[in-house]
Amino acid sequence: MKIAVVGATGATGRRVVKHALAQGHLVTAIARRPEQLSSAERLSLLRGDVISPGGLTGALDGMEVVISCIGPDKNLSPGTLMSVGVASILAECKRADVRRFIMQSGIGLSDGRELSCLSRFVVRVSGRIFTAAVTDKAVAERMTQKIDMEWVIVRPVGMLDKPGKGRYTAGPLARVAVLVPLSFDDCADCLLRAATGEPNWIGKIVNVGS
Ligand SMILES: NC(=O)c1ccc[n+]([C@@H]2O[C@H](COP(=O)([O-])OP(=O)(O)OC[C@H]3O[C@@H](n4cnc5c(N)ncnc54)[C@H](OP(=O)(O)O)[C@@H]3O)[C@@H](O)[C@H]2O)c1
Repeated sequence: MKIAVVGATGATGRRVVKHALAQGHLVTAIARRPEQLSSAERLSLLRGDVISPGGLTGALDGMEVVISCIGPDKNLSPGTLMSVGVASILAECKRADVRRFIMQSGIGLSDGRELSCLSRFVVRVSGRIFTAAVTDKAVAERMTQKIDMEWVIVRPVGMLDKPGKGRYTAGPLARVAVLVPLSFDDCADCLLRAATGEPNWIGKIVNVGS
């Protein structure tokens, strides 16, 4: 498939690019500084900034699926990267007639109903600390849910740079353990499943964790 990864230089984005190439897809990696990525067969590197006006124009032409792995530098002062950035990705997806959009969000957006008491408590406390980040991401999630195309929102728990096990829990309303970190590799695998398969996830919010 022709897959674009926005935020391709990030901790998750890099892994999504790597796994997508390993699975044989044609990948376009979009980043503010694409020179940070190594070139590879079936990989196109493209400069793009999701918050500068026109910063993505034409970048998604010919893509079947777009995966957003963008995220703010600081969660305590996230600005409007997610709301403004996802709006510009969605506008470009529409213009380019992209079939499916995958938004990497976070478990902090859950209202906690599907989680254990402890996980719900942790999500509520972190929501009070990172209110601005949650609010900005909530706007981005709502815009995604309204778009007239296939979409999946993926909400990972906290992540670490550790080897992926390929064994993780993922699905709509999945009861994930918020205090058990996920590997970036397993999150990347889940994002690619959302992008290339999993018809039952379309139009849903998917939790991913242990
Ligand atoms: N890390 C975790 O534990 C965790 C857990 C749950 C949810 N999440 C969420 O998952 C998403 C990805 O997380 P991550 O840890 O992989 O993030 P990350 O390593 O901080 O990467 C963020 C990516 O967004 C890009 N970006 C920022 N501003 C941009 C702009 N204006 N235009 C284009 N690209 C821009 C960055 O590019 P540059 O290289 O140019 O800065 C980088 O590639 C975030 O939304 C995060 O909140 C993360």
